[in-house]
Amino acid sequence: MGKTFYVTTPIYYVNDLPHIGTAYTTVAADALARYHRLKGEKVFFLTGTDEHGQHVARAAERAGVTPQEWADQMVTHFVEVWRRLNISNDFFIRTTDPKHVRVAQEFIQKLYDQGDIYLDVYEGWYCVPDESFWLPSQLVEGRCPQCGREVEMLQEENYFFRLSAYGDKVLEHIQNNPDFVQPEIRRNEVISFIRQGLTDQSISRKNLTWGIPLPFDSSQVMYVWFDALLNYVSAIDYGMDQPRFESIWPADWHLVGKEILRFHAIIWPAMLMAAGLPLPGHIYAHGWLTVEGEKMSKSKGNAISPHVLVDEFGVDAYRYYFLREFSFGYDGNFSRETLVARYNSELANDLGNLVSRVLAMVDRYRGGVIPEPRGAEEGDQVLEETSKLTFQDIERHFQSLSFNEVLASIWSFLKVVNRYVDETAAWDLNKDPSKAPRLDTVLYNQLECLRLAAVMIQPFMPDAAQKIWEQLGGEGPLSSCYLPASASWGLLEPGGRIARGPALFPRIEARK
Ligand code: MSP
Repeated sequence: MGKTFYVTTPIYYVNDLPHIGTAYTTVAADALARYHRLKGEKVFFLTGTDEHGQHVARAAERAGVTPQEWADQMVTHFVEVWRRLNISNDFFIRTTDPKHVRVAQEFIQKLYDQGDIYLDVYEGWYCVPDESFWLPSQLVEGRCPQCGREVEMLQEENYFFRLSAYGDKVLEHIQNNPDFVQPEIRRNEVISFIRQGLTDQSISRKNLTWGIPLPFDSSQVMYVWFDALLNYVSAIDYGMDQPRFESIWPADWHLVGKEILRFHAIIWPAMLMAAGLPLPGHIYAHGWLTVEGEKMSKSKGNAISPHVLVDEFGVDAYRYYFLREFSFGYDGNFSRETLVARYNSELANDLGNLVSRVLAMVDRYRGGVIPEPRGAEEGDQVLEETSKLTFQDIERHFQSLSFNEVLASIWSFLKVVNRYVDETAAWDLNKDPSKAPRLDTVLYNQLECLRLAAVMIQPFMPDAAQKIWEQLGGEGPLSSCYLPASASWGLLEPGGRIARGPALFPRIEARK
């Protein structure tokens, strides 16, 4: 088997509870991971929590507990929300894990020993919530250019990483590899940022105790971003189990939000180059979600917990909505109306209703037994052809992380199937005994389309896919029916018994 497909999410700060914005990357990464597993690939999907930093230390202080106690308590909310959202991560990294601490210390020591790290005085601004250093010229009206919040003046002796020495090489890599930073618009931003000239990066903090101590100066702790980025290699045993590390690294995809792209597309590649490690294949910066037109924030109290939506709409609808409604690279706005509208028309109607209609007819006209197809007629071919094209579209759109396009293609297929159900009018065929062979064929074709639809939606809606599979009489997990074999037409076995179940997506009435 080839290299493991390795996909990561950012590791989330434990200063706050997860909300639909933070869950967005994780749901997307999960669909990608599941798709690659479906193709029979070995996958390593990593997520976790970023537990150091001043921001977290302050949250703990406000709560009157130690940062470690705070992190231990907060991490449970992340673990729980990912379980609820059916997230299939292979490992969950915490930056307070002793293994991570050890890898991070060894990594920084190596760079220090080879002269890539030196001591100097940092004088400038620091945004605590963003954990970012800013030069006076970068501030916007005296505030953090990233989040608009107040910044604090720092003047302290810090260790610096010679980022400037790697600027040209990073730029060259980005230019020679057009797919390295995506989407295009973000890639251009990164290129112009580097062209303005990179300054060396402070990578330690003095007078802070919550962080990984520098192995060569115990009076300082590692800058939280330097520590955090290393999670991508510590989780897979860099420096500890080299064969394992090499079977997984480099990452195929780092999925990140647009505001943290700079760290991933500039600092991280420079750190890897300094350590002599290969660079990740792709870094994708997705857009930001607003709620009813507003930025989510603690002060506005408008952050939505994924639990609330899962309680009302179910986990599959949740996953479907966020990946269908928004174009991954762009900002988007969450609204309850669009969620209800998509739920009712696309899930309850186009998919759920299709499944129950077809299965009801098989029960009624064929006693719940999957009939044997008996000869094709003009118009039947479209199903197989469309399904083939749809699987090709799925592959192409997954390559560019166009999740919404993957789903749009699947729904075009469902439209064709729904039309076929209407046009072949099994209820009329059933009235004429001489049409029995045709009725067998028509029902078989419809059932086979449901099987294919289940395979297609599996990365997005694993529960619904499994339920469809079971209602078709399928045994075992659908996830073990790998692509491309499972995409072939005609795999559903005649003679099997279907097992109708409750509606997959019961309609939701709009709130009065
Ligand atoms: N700890 C750092 C990441 C370190 S990765 C080595 C961090 N954490 S975070 O919790 O603040 O953000 C994590 C991710 O959530 C980021 O990718 C960020 O873009 C994403 N989101 C947070 N709010 C969001 C929205 N409202 N919308 C979409 N994504 C958002 O940054």
